[in-house]
Amino acid sequence: MLVTKFARVGFTAAALCTAVLAQAAGLPNVTILATGGTIAGTGATSTTTVGYTAAKIGVEKLIAAVPELQKVANVKGEQVFQIASENMNNDYWLKLAKRVNELLAQKDVDGIVITHGTDTIEETAYFLNLVVKSKKPVVIVGAMRPATALSADGPINLYNAVATAGSPDAVGRGVLVALNDEIQGARDVTKTNTMTANTFRSPELGSLGYIVSGKPVFYRASTKKNTADTEFDVSKLDKLPAVDIAFGAANANNIAIDAFVAAGDVGIVYAGTGDGSLSSVVRPRLTELRKQGLYIVRSSRISNGPVVRNGENDDDATDFVVSDTLSPQKARILLMLALTKTKDTKEIQRMFYTY
Ligand code: SIN
Repeated sequence: MLVTKFARVGFTAAALCTAVLAQAAGLPNVTILATGGTIAGTGATSTTTVGYTAAKIGVEKLIAAVPELQKVANVKGEQVFQIASENMNNDYWLKLAKRVNELLAQKDVDGIVITHGTDTIEETAYFLNLVVKSKKPVVIVGAMRPATALSADGPINLYNAVATAGSPDAVGRGVLVALNDEIQGARDVTKTNTMTANTFRSPELGSLGYIVSGKPVFYRASTKKNTADTEFDVSKLDKLPAVDIAFGAANANNIAIDAFVAAGDVGIVYAGTGDGSLSSVVRPRLTELRKQGLYIVRSSRISNGPVVRNGENDDDATDFVVSDTLSPQKARILLMLALTKTKDTKEIQRMFYTY
């Protein structure tokens, strides 16, 4: 029999949910938007930490499993969708962003927690960091072990996330990712280990702080603009421009690039080697495609350091944009949003230095 916290309390979910929904004066009002992931996952045994099924447990059970939440916030839950996060897509992002913005516009909502799979948590965090129109805290949380595992990390991560979302100290800091007692900023965070609980890092640029006994403690902030200070607005959008990522490696060729173009992409992020370098096969093809109107962002498969404009390529001559320190997966998000505002590559480059 499984004896994890989520599993043990599952049968009393309804009763506990009523309790946590009772409003306590003086506590912040935090809405938990559940989207799936390992935090809502179940495995065959308590020692199954690989090969389990993500996105099985509903939001009410997630809340009921952590009665301590009642001490830090008035919590409400909504199941926005229920997916393993490798299935995240632009449609889910637009749906989630619109719901977050609706809720944050309400006076009786002080902060939002989003439960999410860890595989694409950094992408959802960065997307929301660019399109949420509020300074109120938005904290995304996941878990590396399913709810049924020994020492599942979901309950403590959820508690920390709710405490952070309800804290005045978290206001105006952009979208946050909270796991393993650490707070990371949406722009810089990335998953660095396929398995371990300390997988989330902001390499070199650093995490923002810690959560100590349920209290967020911040040490630093990103200088990049976010949330209410961005120029992006998805409220009237029902789709995003088609942009994909082509990956640079030895023996580079244009097969994927040409397939993306044939499929109707309007932009390509090229995750080049080193400082976003382009092989003698890829460079002329991307240059030609730019002349035909395709938008090219030169990015890097290396996880640290900037891709420098006019460094490994004459970007002024080829009219490419460089990703600066954004990873290819985040550069894809910014290029999509940039193309909803402008077709001018100088403007797009400005956005890459701004966000
Ligand atoms: C997922 O991303 O949905 C599965 C993996 C995880 O949440 O850790």
